[in-house]
Amino acid sequence: MFIMHVALQGCLRASEVPYGINADTGGHIRYLLELSRAVGRHPAVARQEIVTRAFRDRRLGRAHLAGIEPIDAATRIVRLRTASQAYLPKEALWREHDAFVDALVRHIERLDRPPDLIHAHYADAGRVAAAIRARLGIPYLFTAHSLGRVKRAILPAERRASPELDRRIAIEEEAILGASGIIASSRDEAELQYAGYDGADPGRIRIIVPGSDLAAFAAGRRDPAVEARLERFLRDPAKPVILAVARPVSRKNLPALVDAFGRSATLRARANLVVVAGSRDDIDALEPECARNVREIVELVDRHDLYGSVAYPKSHCPDEVPAIFAHAAARRGVFVNPALNEPFGLTLLEAAASGLPVVATDSGGPNDIVETCRNGILVDPHCRDGIASAIDSILADDALWDRYSSAGHAAVHAYDWTRHAAHYLRFAHEIAAPPPPPPVAPQLLLVSDIDNTLVGCVESTRCFAEWHAGQPDILFGIATGRSLHSALSILAQANAPRPQIIISSVGSEIYRLAGNGAVYAADTEWAERIAHRWDAERVGRLIAAAGGVTRQGPLEQRRFKLSYFTGGDPGAASRIGALLADAGHSCQVIQSHGRYLDVLPLGVSKGSAVEHVRRRLGFARDQVIVAGDSGNDVEMLRAVPQAIIVANYTDGLAHRPDLAHTYVASSSFARGVIEGVDHFRGVRRPAVDA
Ligand code: GLC
Ligand code: MG
Repeated sequence: MFIMHVALQGCLRASEVPYGINADTGGHIRYLLELSRAVGRHPAVARQEIVTRAFRDRRLGRAHLAGIEPIDAATRIVRLRTASQAYLPKEALWREHDAFVDALVRHIERLDRPPDLIHAHYADAGRVAAAIRARLGIPYLFTAHSLGRVKRAILPAERRASPELDRRIAIEEEAILGASGIIASSRDEAELQYAGYDGADPGRIRIIVPGSDLAAFAAGRRDPAVEARLERFLRDPAKPVILAVARPVSRKNLPALVDAFGRSATLRARANLVVVAGSRDDIDALEPECARNVREIVELVDRHDLYGSVAYPKSHCPDEVPAIFAHAAARRGVFVNPALNEPFGLTLLEAAASGLPVVATDSGGPNDIVETCRNGILVDPHCRDGIASAIDSILADDALWDRYSSAGHAAVHAYDWTRHAAHYLRFAHEIAAPPPPPPVAPQLLLVSDIDNTLVGCVESTRCFAEWHAGQPDILFGIATGRSLHSALSILAQANAPRPQIIISSVGSEIYRLAGNGAVYAADTEWAERIAHRWDAERVGRLIAAAGGVTRQGPLEQRRFKLSYFTGGDPGAASRIGALLADAGHSCQVIQSHGRYLDVLPLGVSKGSAVEHVRRRLGFARDQVIVAGDSGNDVEMLRAVPQAIIVANYTDGLAHRPDLAHTYVASSSFARGVIEGVDHFRGVRRPAVDA
């Protein structure tokens, strides 16, 4: 395969990139170079070009004028000249777009063969790729790296109206609209950040977590000099360390952690707090936002009289960070990231690799990291007591600490570049060369739940994948409480087969795999059908006022699904159902695993969604089999005559009179699904132990 990357910003070169020399020479260049290195090592990639803009600027070095700069045997940088020869910051690049497109068309036409795929990095390159697609028909992948609408949302109100941002957002819309696939790094980016764009349908977005080099953290060693600088603050340095490492900007919410620590007598007795918040000579010399945050931290230390139990060193250098993590791990501490929103969460990976359990914000990338590594607890960053009690629950439980600490090492493998390259290339390949349609028309629609049905036992999922590969007449779908991207991520992690149909968010969203086998198309007919029965805002307000349940994290709230934790109250569903009905807002209320509660438009469930899919695809009733394990599967198991309950069921499923028609498998997890399908198809095979 021949992949052509396009990236216009900053000082892009093969080596000695002057990171930080200007605002546009940053992390996205590192990402691009590391990506192309990892991808270039893969045998499926014969050739790569990284196309950028040539410019002449004595201060930035002569390298940026050279037309061709080789990186390795398979990869080279190609610099194209446009109308202006000056270095241009990203805000000014749009003037050069047309000239760049012309130059790129000429370049591609002169090559011995066109690339199979273009990968555009950042909005400007995305717009260029859209123009190339229109002229030459080459499909493209898009990575935004950062989005104008997200930037606007966190700006103070008086700075939001900006023609520059308007232009950037319009360019992003074009880039998103024409992309065959979009690569995101977290659920937050895939599900919330892109949601503000008209052209971004979720089924084209794929989360492929970036690789990161965690070796320095996995091999991190304690350093007496570093420790001496922390311990001079502390009366009893042997206590466990609660560690935070972040720039002191308001988004990082560090004062909330100091306050949470100060207010909890238990935490103060049990541990020390170490806040590594950048470096400073004089607080007055910091940028105003950083100065405000540091002052607030110092004030809180004074207010709660935390002298002797909080360290907030004035400075550190970047190479010392692994030793700071190693110190906290050796003291059996906890790493805390209380950010109001964290787009990705690299420090959490560094903590994980260091063997340090984490307590992290439930807003943004940490959701994915904690789900992948299972190395800590997510918290609402606005709830200070919640932060304190999560930290305390880890510090107070040695077995839990050990489990989180060793689980974190998974990060090193999960966020590895080789793995990233493999997922990336699979996506790239599907987009560039769609597979032929299956030879056999499906005779059976099999819809399975994910958690604790299809996934939950590695060996069982492996068996299922193998079995599924030999069943060309089965159209495979899933029905889950998870969102689309959460479902795709866990299926990829578990090496489960890719479903043709995804019924997500407890039946409130339906997606179908498109012909290229790479992207999903949303069933808009379903969305339209259920929309008129739903007033999410009003329902949310009624529950907040009188529901007695706790809202789940922001990523779990979907257009047609509000989700809560019940705290184990078995009567929550009927209480909330009645509360809403009394207010004239009857809804579908579904409780599962004794702790989840989902509120959906009336009549919406996995059951009604499966029925919708069955009709749309023209299957007869007896051509459908469903499988599940818990409360949110009940409607689906009830609605379908051929229904399987796996042996490891919960919520008393097998004893419900309304599910008496189901087949209760004697095998657990995905093996139970195979057993059930065999049962309904009259296939006999020797029993396998679950
Ligand atoms: C998944 C969802 C959660 C939902 C639960 C039960 O865990 O992420 O929001 O409440 O399923 O349906
Ligand atoms: Mg389940």
